Amino acid sequence: MTYCGPARIEPVRHPPRPAPPRPVGVTIYGCQADEATLVLRLASSYGLAPIITEAGVTEANVDLAVGNRCISIGHRTPVRNYTLLALSQIGVKYISTRSVGYNHIDLRYARSLGITVENVAYSPDSVADFTLMLILMAVRNARSIVQRVDGHDYGLPDRRGRELRDLTVGIVGTGRIGTAVMIRLHGFGARTVAYDPRPRTDAEYVPLDELVGMSDVVTLHVPLDEGSHHLLDRRRIGLMKPGAILVNTARGGIVDTSALLSSLETGRLAGAALDVVEGEDGIFYTDCRNGPVPNQNLLQLQARPDVVITPHTAYYTDRSLSDMVAGSLANCSAYEEGRHRG
Ligand code: COI
Repeated sequence: MTYCGPARIEPVRHPPRPAPPRPVGVTIYGCQADEATLVLRLASSYGLAPIITEAGVTEANVDLAVGNRCISIGHRTPVRNYTLLALSQIGVKYISTRSVGYNHIDLRYARSLGITVENVAYSPDSVADFTLMLILMAVRNARSIVQRVDGHDYGLPDRRGRELRDLTVGIVGTGRIGTAVMIRLHGFGARTVAYDPRPRTDAEYVPLDELVGMSDVVTLHVPLDEGSHHLLDRRRIGLMKPGAILVNTARGGIVDTSALLSSLETGRLAGAALDVVEGEDGIFYTDCRNGPVPNQNLLQLQARPDVVITPHTAYYTDRSLSDMVAGSLANCSAYEEGRHRG
């Protein structure tokens, strides 16, 4: 069979370069155990001597970076501006975030302090595969089927599923992840339409209001910034096709969650599948079984059988994690050698 979709996306490569004679110090903040294993395995091939801590970077632990120009940070802890100031005062010049998104750090303020911030690229297939799983779970009512079976109700579900070949999927954002989602959807026979302020692929682009009005499923793949905060606000959610489904594997802040809840409650939307939720910080990646979950919207969403929630997990594959760590080490090493992208 001839493959006639958009060009395949090349895998991410971060080849190490010849290491300098003496390794250069770099502090790796917010480094979980699985990342630490990779850092320890790879750092020397990038000419780096890592200091590793599981704690996110704060004013209280900037001293771990004394003497280093580069640090690498995770995405879980938002970086306060006081922390950026403290980092600049001890001579940090470069921050590599082990994420695609930058929304946990004030880029403008960092720049004003003379600190360069760069992100990493990792396998977009991790998030794209997960997005397809969420789309399929939503259109086949998987959560409610599994919930019923968990209660030993083995009858057919109340609602029939729908087949992707009969559906139009609106892809908001056609960067690497959005494009990888589109390629997969074409494999399932779905029609796709796309919106992106900067069109790049051979997708069928339409204005955003049109996209939400014609799509059976809307899937979000744009970064969160000033322009995309509540991109799906009450008005746009109100334009969505009756019975449509919203899928979000990008950032919670792109959707007005209260408006989404109202549309689910009135039955206008048939469901949602969300890997990211407004106010997830401090909840996702935490075991809250024995404590409160301080996010009423999240609790209300979770109580609904037509909503699937996953805790910002779409990126989490073995390949993506090693891409992230290798990419961050490569960025720090490139900065030290004066070859950084920025
Ligand atoms: C990103 O890379 O921006 C993500 O959303 C994944 C992050 C939690 C590492």
